Amino acid sequence: MTTFLSGIQPSGRPHLGNYFGAIRQHVASQEEDGEHFFFIADYHALTTVQDAEALRSNVREMAATYFALGLDPKRAVFFRQSDVPQVTEITWLLSCVTGMGLLERAHSFKDKTAKGIKPSVGLFTYPILMAADILAYDSTIVPVGKDQVQHVEMAQDMAGHFNAAFDSQVFVRPEYRLPETDALAKVPGSDGEKMSKSYGNDLWIFETGKRLKKAVGRILTDSRDPSEPKDPAGVLLVDFLALFLEDKELNEWREKIREGGANAPGYGHLKVRLIEAWEETFAPARARFEEYLADPAALDATLLVGAERARERASGVRDRAYLACGLR
Ligand code: ADP
Ligand code: TRP
Repeated sequence: MTTFLSGIQPSGRPHLGNYFGAIRQHVASQEEDGEHFFFIADYHALTTVQDAEALRSNVREMAATYFALGLDPKRAVFFRQSDVPQVTEITWLLSCVTGMGLLERAHSFKDKTAKGIKPSVGLFTYPILMAADILAYDSTIVPVGKDQVQHVEMAQDMAGHFNAAFDSQVFVRPEYRLPETDALAKVPGSDGEKMSKSYGNDLWIFETGKRLKKAVGRILTDSRDPSEPKDPAGVLLVDFLALFLEDKELNEWREKIREGGANAPGYGHLKVRLIEAWEETFAPARARFEEYLADPAALDATLLVGAERARERASGVRDRAYLACGLR
């Protein structure tokens, strides 16, 4: 049986990287046979968001976003991480079989501290909580963007260490799954670095009107003249257009940029096309998002139904783990 599972932090508004790298795959996986678990990682978000109202509203926005983009809570178990206490119980068990060295090698931790984020113990042990998320549901496939691959590999290691330490088969080995192309697995931000909520270079998927124009205006360009022939691979706006356009049209833009001359598009032209394609792609989902958000009680109720199903699964796995290590 295939069990899909993934999570996303409610640490801000979902951006293009979250959508193309993760959310779109999560929704699409519902068409595949198997069980589907998707959750809002509010415990993880506490490592960076320390404002109760902001966290509460981010959680609802994230739920409304998933439903608007097609997640069906009847087909997938959709819930809030903190509604499943078994996950924190499993976190402790995994902490006891995980070496400090494994965590010290985590790219995400190193990147965040290098950017000046002051590390708490929670940020350091973040991959253990994430491994517990994955292992608590016997997940076999974890659809994520490229930045999370190492975390899934750590979950594989922790599962193996626990099983070996207690001579058991308690935890199932999970595999990660990346989107089809590299461009989707690592979407760039407005500054050309990886797009991330923690780096302030992210663009909200449901941005529209003047705000969208402003956001697109912030995408990094240079001062070269449009008529100068350029390698399109070095034009950040082309990477953004690639997320939205069909190959045929995209290749036409690339060709014109490569040729230069009087017919070559300026950065302004590329921005206009990007805004248009963006609005067209997300307008229907944006309307549904507003509708879901207008009824927070219904969102909360749907999350609680998912939580009930998630707890049922996770408590079985927790019991297996407790028994194996002598806690029962
Ligand atoms: P952020 O880095 O903005 O805090 P999260 O860590 O909550 O985003 O990521 C949620 C999901 O979105 C993960 O599966 C992650 O791999 C994916 N993701 C995040 N940023 C990108 C990106 N720039 N490109 C592709 N996927 C991404
Ligand atoms: N750490 C993931 C991220 O920032 C979110 C996450 C938490 C997750 N638990 C998970 C992803 C379990 C996949 C599986 O993107």
